[in-house]
Amino acid sequence: MAKRITIIGTGYVGLVAAVGLSDFGNYVTAVDRREEIVESLSQRKPTIYEHGLEEYLVRNVEAGRLFFTTKVEQAVRDAEVVILAVGTPIDSTGHTDLSQVKEAALSVRENLDAYKVIVTKSTVPIGTNRWIEKTLLETKPADLFSVVSNPEFLREGRAIQDFFHPDRIVIGCEGERARKIMEEVYRPLYLIQTPFVWCNLETAELIKYASNAFLSTKITYINQIANLCEAVGADIHVIARSMGMDGRISPKFLHPGPGYGGSCLPKDTRELVNTGERYGVEMSLVRTVEEANERQKSRVVDKLKALVELKGKKVAVLGLAYKSETDDVRDSPAIAVVSRLLSEGAEVHAHDPKAMDRFREVFPSIHYHDSEFAAARDADLLLILTEWNEYRNIDLQKVRSTMRGDLLFDVRNVLEAESARTLGFRYFGTGR
Ligand code: UDX
Repeated sequence: MAKRITIIGTGYVGLVAAVGLSDFGNYVTAVDRREEIVESLSQRKPTIYEHGLEEYLVRNVEAGRLFFTTKVEQAVRDAEVVILAVGTPIDSTGHTDLSQVKEAALSVRENLDAYKVIVTKSTVPIGTNRWIEKTLLETKPADLFSVVSNPEFLREGRAIQDFFHPDRIVIGCEGERARKIMEEVYRPLYLIQTPFVWCNLETAELIKYASNAFLSTKITYINQIANLCEAVGADIHVIARSMGMDGRISPKFLHPGPGYGGSCLPKDTRELVNTGERYGVEMSLVRTVEEANERQKSRVVDKLKALVELKGKKVAVLGLAYKSETDDVRDSPAIAVVSRLLSEGAEVHAHDPKAMDRFREVFPSIHYHDSEFAAARDADLLLILTEWNEYRNIDLQKVRSTMRGDLLFDVRNVLEAESARTLGFRYFGTGR
């Protein structure tokens, strides 16, 4: 039977869950305190760029299954299931800021008038769901609620596809009543035999951190092997492909580049290290991964500096998002690279198909261009930092003819090295 679900928070996780769960037939109300967000979503206009999102937003709002509001009290009272999908950023001291989760948990407690399942989708430090449970118990009886941990594994840019075809659904849930309700919430996925992992709250919380830290480690590993390739004259593409043929390794997440970024991997590795410290358990591997990832970002400009004096040079930077198919620039390697370029005295001319507005909030005064060719005009050197398809298919001859210099840094290896060299570029990739 369809459930009445309230989701607190309309960021990537909250909004994708809102359109996805309403598409499953549930009645979903998503809450955000910002009027302009609620207004825009109610008008069926997405507030983030995410492939396929708009279609699902329009369809479910029009079907009368999806609503947006700023009024958290009423929305909680009306729901059988309340999902917390608020932000859990890292604060300036390097710790997870749980203030939004705490605030949401308290407003749930205030409006807990009948049995509800309280589901945490935000990525939260180990023990947070137990804290929510304890906090609710301070003023409400145990039979009025169940706390469930349901971490989200969706990738930006493929979030809709990931929501409807997940590799697994992880549910930390410790009672039969809540379990039955969660099965109903995800009924269509249950029917197509998506693997469901049922476990306790701490296990569910840690699955998320363990997965993201593992992916970060895999990327860092291939980045270091790529750096070694440059030193010894080996080709990282052949190596990664061959490694990936081993079923135990798998070919995914073996693409070298400027280091991982985004809203999840950097913050989740940080929190896992913090958790190890809190419990006195060594997390030295993950800590090393973090440090190596920072050096990988710096390495881009270090390599450039070894070839040219950057002061006064005009540098074209193509790609500002932390990966393709998103407008997100949170912890993007481009931030580290651009800030180093500026401190070395270079003039930066940037282009990105989607992320320029967001990047402008971080760097208001570099030069932004509508096309890659405009950014490259008269440039002394060109840097590709994000693997957008339009850069893979770029007309290199045209770029070459507009540039002043001949240096091309293809940090994501999106181009054919040989064709670039034939056109007269001094071409450098990563690990080849
Ligand atoms: C990640 C996790 O994959 C997802 O499960 C979790 O829910 C959120 O964090 P996302 O941040 O959307 O998803 O991006 P992802 O595709 O995992 O890439 C993360 C970063 O790693 C990007 O900066 C990307 O460019 C980089 N990356 C990824 C590499 O450098 N090489 C690779 O082989 C893969």
